[in-house]
Amino acid sequence: MSNLFCSSIGKKLLMSISGLFLITFLLLHLTLNSFLLIPDGGEMFNAAAHFMATNPLIKVMEPILVLGFVVHIIYAGLLTLQNSKARGNQRYASGSKTLDVSWASKNMWILGLAVLGFLVVHIANFYVKMKFTGDPLLNEASIIIGGVHTEVENAYALVNKTFSFLWVVIVYVIGSVALAIHLSHGFWSGFQTIGFSNEVWRVRLNVVGAVIAWIIGLGFALIAVLQYLFYQV
Ligand code: HEM
Repeated sequence: MSNLFCSSIGKKLLMSISGLFLITFLLLHLTLNSFLLIPDGGEMFNAAAHFMATNPLIKVMEPILVLGFVVHIIYAGLLTLQNSKARGNQRYASGSKTLDVSWASKNMWILGLAVLGFLVVHIANFYVKMKFTGDPLLNEASIIIGGVHTEVENAYALVNKTFSFLWVVIVYVIGSVALAIHLSHGFWSGFQTIGFSNEVWRVRLNVVGAVIAWIIGLGFALIAVLQYLFYQV
């Protein structure tokens, strides 16, 4: 078993499974963040953030999510090193001589680094403040849960203030576009590695992957831009 995950295909398998898991997380994250666009002063978004912060299932999922990122990043590094040693400038294990010779497929590593850079900024913006350091903007908001007024963190106020700075919005747009390009190849490549590799599935997964990737990327970018343009108080 340990031999499997040291082999090239084993490493690729771990990257694919972790990558597809991270895409599922992103779809859920985007769905919850879309509540930021409901013009209710952040009530729905705060309720959703409160649910996510207190739900035991989500708490169990959090370390698994971290593990998903760690596995994906470490194995991406290992595979990139291994491939560049073995094959000179043919850097990515899926093989750029197959159907997909897109720019994305040849630049997954640099796109991944851009997304990672964005993620560090993003975690510092929200996660660190909400989980560890706190922020005056988070001071309680009141929402109604099951007919009862409940005091919750004002996550909306923090997000809204963060997106009042143009440079932050630009960083989010660049990060989200890099993410979309990364995923447009990653989705297809992930399914190919786990076995959907015939011609029919390749074409289907290419199209579905591109659609999902750009929904995710443009979705996050649009939320940041719309918050900046239309939701500032
Ligand atoms: C408009 C864009 C985005 C907004 C408004 C947003 C908002 C947030 C907020 C408020 C949190 C803290 C949640 C909490 O601690 O309870 C968070 C966490 C997180 N975000 Fe985002 N996010 C955005 C885009 C992204 C993107 C593009 C990625 C991945 C590339 C991402 C990955 C994460 C991760 C890994 C966490 C930590 C895990 C979690 O708390 O769920 N986010 N985000």
